[in-house]
Amino acid sequence: MREHRPPTMLITGAAGMLGSALVPAASAAGYRVVATDIQPGMPRLDVRDGAAVEEAVEDIGPDVLVHLAALTDLEQCERDPAAAMLTNAAGTAHVARAAASREIPLAYISTAGVFDGHNANGYHETDPVNPINTYGASKYAGEEAIRRYCARAAIVRAGWMMGGGQRDHKFVGAVLAQIRAGAPVIHAVTDRTGTPTYTRDFAAALLGLAAVGWDGLFHLAGHGAACRYDVAAHLLHALGVNDRIRLEPVASSFFTARYPVTRPVCEVLHNTAAARLGLDRMRGWQQALTAYLHTDFPADLPATGTGRLATMGQPR
Ligand SMILES: NC(=O)c1ccc[n+]([C@@H]2O[C@H](COP(=O)([O-])OP(=O)(O)OC[C@H]3O[C@@H](n4cnc5c(N)ncnc54)[C@H](OP(=O)(O)O)[C@@H]3O)[C@@H](O)[C@H]2O)c1
Repeated sequence: MREHRPPTMLITGAAGMLGSALVPAASAAGYRVVATDIQPGMPRLDVRDGAAVEEAVEDIGPDVLVHLAALTDLEQCERDPAAAMLTNAAGTAHVARAAASREIPLAYISTAGVFDGHNANGYHETDPVNPINTYGASKYAGEEAIRRYCARAAIVRAGWMMGGGQRDHKFVGAVLAQIRAGAPVIHAVTDRTGTPTYTRDFAAALLGLAAVGWDGLFHLAGHGAACRYDVAAHLLHALGVNDRIRLEPVASSFFTARYPVTRPVCEVLHNTAAARLGLDRMRGWQQALTAYLHTDFPADLPATGTGRLATMGQPR
């Protein structure tokens, strides 16, 4: 009898927001997952080190590879473009070469930030790119590395990520931190639009794409466009704190001191290629955000938990 060996998935940058959703989803889907990062707590694989990437891929012998590792802080990328290019472009080239030489199917996660954001209707996979900041340029250079080295690979662009629970360092995490700190007013931007993308939905859809073989360019984002104000409004309402916290609409210039890097005006993604294959499994962002709160912060929801956040910061 032949021994059944589960396929091995090697993930780079697995300690981050998306990795925290992909690792358990891939395990549940039957993969033996080897999760790596430069963060402590998992085997170290620094994608800037080409020899280390070659060695890891040789030793582990993965059946599939998912490349998440990236410098994702836009301000850090702008301050240090060489570091951004080293990780996001050269690091991706190292992973692409290691996968290509062994014909290992590879998925690279890219971003709506490859577009300039001037098209208010949003972006399909066929639209021309024109990154306007270093992060976007470095992620696009990563896409080019994938295309240069890999005859077949998936480049999958995600929208504004929501997820990660305690590791959520994006907008939802920032608003939750302000609520916890007892902020009476939350400012949220109205002049930038995107497609909020729940990490668990993205992970499931990415694994779904594997069923037809990772090949080509895909957008996978939550359905429906939103500005940060819309997301904050949904969040405050879901947590039952909208009556005591004032949500203040502001232009992005309000945050220039804290977030000096210019973001594209429109980062809305349409999942056209996945939909054509019948593999667009993403949900509406509101439904996904509610699901995220129920999964990661159940005690904070007034209907299901104690509504802890609803009572925090109130006068005793
Ligand atoms: N978050 C979003 O809204 C978003 C949207 C679209 C696309 N994406 C893309 O999706 C992927 C995953 O994003 P995420 O939100 O999970 O990002 P994340 O939370 O920042 O996770 C990325 C992980 O990669 C690690 N890393 C950085 N440099 C590395 C290196 N040289 N070698 C190995 N690991 C390294 C990071 O460690 P440190 O924390 O120490 O840097 C972090 O643990 C990225 O490629 C990102 O560009 C993200």
